Amino acid sequence: MARTLAFAVLISGRGSNMLALARAAAEGRIAGRIVVVIGDQAQAEGLAAARRLGLATRLIEPASGMDRADLGCALTSALEECGAELVALAGFMRILDADFVRRWQDRLLNIHPSLLPAYRGLHTHRRVLAAGDRLHGCTVHFVTEELDAGPAVIQGRLTVGPADTEASLSARVQRLEHRIYPRAVGWFAARRLSCRDGAVWLDGERLPNPVIEEDA
Ligand code: GRF
Repeated sequence: MARTLAFAVLISGRGSNMLALARAAAEGRIAGRIVVVIGDQAQAEGLAAARRLGLATRLIEPASGMDRADLGCALTSALEECGAELVALAGFMRILDADFVRRWQDRLLNIHPSLLPAYRGLHTHRRVLAAGDRLHGCTVHFVTEELDAGPAVIQGRLTVGPADTEASLSARVQRLEHRIYPRAVGWFAARRLSCRDGAVWLDGERLPNPVIEEDA
């Protein structure tokens, strides 16, 4: 049997992106398997959903007195024990420390609900509406020490309509997220995608800009 990628997903909430990745792996769109889903909140819906799918889960709930570096060490130990080769952040609401990012450099992906470099950080849909932007979307990127600033792989792009609200944008962006994250992880698993010296490579070519997937 061909070698498949062992990957981990880190979540804090609902875990809909984790489920999209799990589905893609089950359907063979990702030549890989989720070896662990790690959550930082006992009540995270996504952890229960992962358990229902029979996936291995870990709860790493930072205790009082645990700082960012301790959290990074705890995460790395769990990831190493599970043999993770790639880590996919999917709504993991913690800032990761520099040692953690360096340990997983070029093997750490994140999905962010904006067309980066626009709107790093939180409340992206609200900020897009307030600015009156016409285009919005989501980005899968490799993670670097600077928050939401690592090199982008793929973006899902949509046109903001006059009737759009924060809630409608959130739903529309999530639908795109569920398409682009499995694609990016699928490329990585197929060894078509890599990150080297801060640059993204796809199919042997250096990507000058992220791949764009338009809303259907
Ligand atoms: C997504 O919108 C993602 O862009 C952001 O957090 C959200 C996670 O959603 N980083 P879910 O838990 O995957 O449903």
